[in-house]
Amino acid sequence: KKADDQLLVIFGASGDLTGRKLLPSLFELHVRGLLPNRFCILGASRTNYSDEEYRTFERQHIIDEQKGKEYSEEQLDQFLDFVYYLSFDSNNTDEYYKLRERIELLQSKYQLPDKIIYYLATPPMMYEVIPRCLLESGLNASQSTDGWRRIIVEKPFGTSFESARALSEHLRHIFHEEEIYRIDHYLGKETVQNILVLRFSNGIFEPLWNRNYIESIEISATETLGVENRGKYYDSAGAMRDMIQNHLMQLMSFVAMESPAIFEPEPIRDEIVKVFRSLRPFKPKEIDTQIVRAQYKGYREEKNVAPDSTTETYVAMKFFIDNWRWSGVPFYFVTGKEMPEKKSEIVIHFKSTPHKLFVGQCSGGSCNKLTIRIQPDESISLKFGLKMPGAGFEVKQVGMDFRYDSLSKTYLPDAYERLLLDAMLGDSTLYARSDALETSWKFIDPILHHWKEEGEKNLFYYQPGENGPFQKIMLGMVEKPCSCKSK
Ligand code: BG6
Repeated sequence: KKADDQLLVIFGASGDLTGRKLLPSLFELHVRGLLPNRFCILGASRTNYSDEEYRTFERQHIIDEQKGKEYSEEQLDQFLDFVYYLSFDSNNTDEYYKLRERIELLQSKYQLPDKIIYYLATPPMMYEVIPRCLLESGLNASQSTDGWRRIIVEKPFGTSFESARALSEHLRHIFHEEEIYRIDHYLGKETVQNILVLRFSNGIFEPLWNRNYIESIEISATETLGVENRGKYYDSAGAMRDMIQNHLMQLMSFVAMESPAIFEPEPIRDEIVKVFRSLRPFKPKEIDTQIVRAQYKGYREEKNVAPDSTTETYVAMKFFIDNWRWSGVPFYFVTGKEMPEKKSEIVIHFKSTPHKLFVGQCSGGSCNKLTIRIQPDESISLKFGLKMPGAGFEVKQVGMDFRYDSLSKTYLPDAYERLLLDAMLGDSTLYARSDALETSWKFIDPILHHWKEEGEKNLFYYQPGENGPFQKIMLGMVEKPCSCKSK
């Protein structure tokens, strides 16, 4: 299905996200013939570029990001032909007349209906200013009956429950809720979407998918990189806000939710909110016993990081969902920078048999487990015990694997490709709704508040490239603060 003809305006057009993700994804959609028939992109930023200079600047980004993919020079030229640039100060309402003029010019040149997506690929402090300026200059709503506006906002959506709510209210004052698209790029990943299909299109998993058969669930996303050049943002965010409040909580909601009655955005988003509402809040004492936060050594020397920073770059936590399905089943989150491996996965540990019959038969949640590997080496695998050939009945653990790359010709689109296309089509299923966001902040807020009060107390340190002892919390071995030493 093709999206309506439309215009995409990207604020923060000379930034990293636009160059590394947005334009390469849009280019890929162009190569696959998925962009609207009549379409153009207007990048807006403060940096002084002409259209041509901007195209040259972004051409290189696209080439770098598209390495190994098939496309022709001609396709790249065609694509860049409908990319334009406006240099203006998006902080200043008085300058929005320039934006209006450019929009009108492009709409008339391409004969576009008054359908516009604004993408805020800017630092979060601009989320207040840009929508306000759009309102003040009358660009927030279409005057034509068949026109529309949509706005895509990148995370972080606030830094606490209060700020997330204030931001939502601000945006809702300017756009309708259904016009606001809060992007969480994890939901754009094929493997993440597949959690829903795996669960709800098969009869064999759902009967086991509950407290009667599942011992515990682990959701992890570790990275080998440190904070790179994002010290300023990261130091005020930390792993809890950067990864857990959004990406890991979204993954958890897909794993834990009930089946929606129909596969449409609102019923799905209703189920997500129900999961978040059932999360058992932490009492201050439990924060120290069920959550480990740590910082990699050398983090404080990173550029734009405070020399006495207590920001966590690693979190492992155990928590519960108090509802009929999940009562008593521990869930674990693990995330960290500077870890030995880049890996995001979900592991469902099933309960073992009530009685052990065979030699070598394993017991505990590591025997029968279903692993959904989000990235890299996207796959789904199931582990179980089988008889070793020969005499006796010795049991060996074996696996059944499905790997996405075995579907040899299947193309795994980048998360941004899928999400941008959905926004163009007006499908918000994979975007976060404001009540889900606010409920997730309600769960996280007391933890952040407690850590703030504690400062360096109970903050642990790990060597870059090492797991450290924290993984133990996942295996249920740490019920009280782990004994690893600070510094
Ligand atoms: C981003 C975080 O949202 O997700 C980054 O801000 C993190 O700190 C990134 O590196 C991880 O995404 P992915 O897709 O590489 O797992």
